[in-house]
Amino acid sequence: MDSAKEGSLAVSKIKCGTVIDHINAGKALLVLRILGIKPGCSERVLIAMNVPSKKMGKKDIVKVEGKYIGEKELDRIALISPNATINLIDEYEVSEKRRVELPSTVEGILTCPNKNCITNSKEPIKSKFHIRRSGESVRAVCHYCGRKIYELDKYVV
Ligand code: CTP
Ligand code: ZN
Repeated sequence: MDSAKEGSLAVSKIKCGTVIDHINAGKALLVLRILGIKPGCSERVLIAMNVPSKKMGKKDIVKVEGKYIGEKELDRIALISPNATINLIDEYEVSEKRRVELPSTVEGILTCPNKNCITNSKEPIKSKFHIRRSGESVRAVCHYCGRKIYELDKYVV
């Protein structure tokens, strides 16, 4: 492949850790939030935004040295970037590559925009959404009130 075209020269390789590639363009900062990478963090993090990609036109990349990502974080990333690939890097080599998988339901990850939804009341009920995908568009339907969410990234906790 043409690495310059794919944008992989935009940021250097990492030694050990995780590369999240093929993130929807412009969503890298949201991925950092999901990973809990905040101002003052000590991890070495490389970010590329809006770099050229053959498959996607433009994409974002996040590389975190020394970090492995948990399943719950992967579900959140899948919701905002269903085509993201997760590359585990060991001694500069890709030791494992997989795509995120869109979960069929998520609990406690999205907040319901309906103020009258029971999940927004004083009741101790966790949010629950059913995830539907048609082509590139992903939507979530509240299990309790049926409200549909189309811009998932606005409601990811
Ligand atoms: N990568 C990295 N550090 C390494 C090895 C790889 O940061 N030591 C990054 C690459 O820059 C790329 C991603 O991890 O963004 C996946 O690497 P690789 O599988 O070699 O690249 P591609 O073939 O482009 O991957 P894909 O087929 O998923 O597009
Ligand atoms: Zn609801």
